[in-house]
Amino acid sequence: MSKAQTSHRASEKAARIHEHLGGRSIVLIGLMGAGKTSIGRRLAARLDLPFTDADSEIEIAAGKTIPEIFADHGEEHFRQGESKVIERLLNAEQQVLATGGGAYMSAQTRNNVAEHGFCIWLRAELDLLMKRVSRRNNRPLLMNTDPEETMKRLISERHPVYTGADLVIDSRDEPHDVIVGEIIDTLAELAEHG
Ligand code: S3P
Repeated sequence: MSKAQTSHRASEKAARIHEHLGGRSIVLIGLMGAGKTSIGRRLAARLDLPFTDADSEIEIAAGKTIPEIFADHGEEHFRQGESKVIERLLNAEQQVLATGGGAYMSAQTRNNVAEHGFCIWLRAELDLLMKRVSRRNNRPLLMNTDPEETMKRLISERHPVYTGADLVIDSRDEPHDVIVGEIIDTLAELAEHG
């Protein structure tokens, strides 16, 4: 296939996906380290949609980093801000929205996502999550003596709730573009066959 044909196919696929979305945002959920931000950014570029990272928006709104919000005000305060910010974002323009790992545990957020979004759960195994989160020390929930045990607990608490997503994609140890390609193909397939 020539370059022009490939790019024509890609824009046809994107158009089909847009039609299927009908103005809804794509909302990425999944545990810390699942790749929501990196994959979301690339997915948005491929679909020509704006990308928003809920965690960054929370930091901007608070004028503090997430570790600072947890340290100064506690997790409960963070969760309240998180659901407010996500509600505001979902009521604004259509976008690809990456949420923090705990966001979808809020019933208010699940309702907002169901109303305004198409929700994709980026599911990943414990080993991959641990490999990814160990690269940075910016997640308050994992700043303890046994982050792996914490992650296991979060998997058992959250995975059953994440099954409420419209689509599940396995986030494997592959380049992000591979996973993005898989999301695009699956969405195009869904758009075609419902
Ligand atoms: C959290 C995940 C983080 C961030 C905060 C709490 C969680 O986002 O919102 O540290 O509860 O899982 P990422 O999933 O983007 O790391």
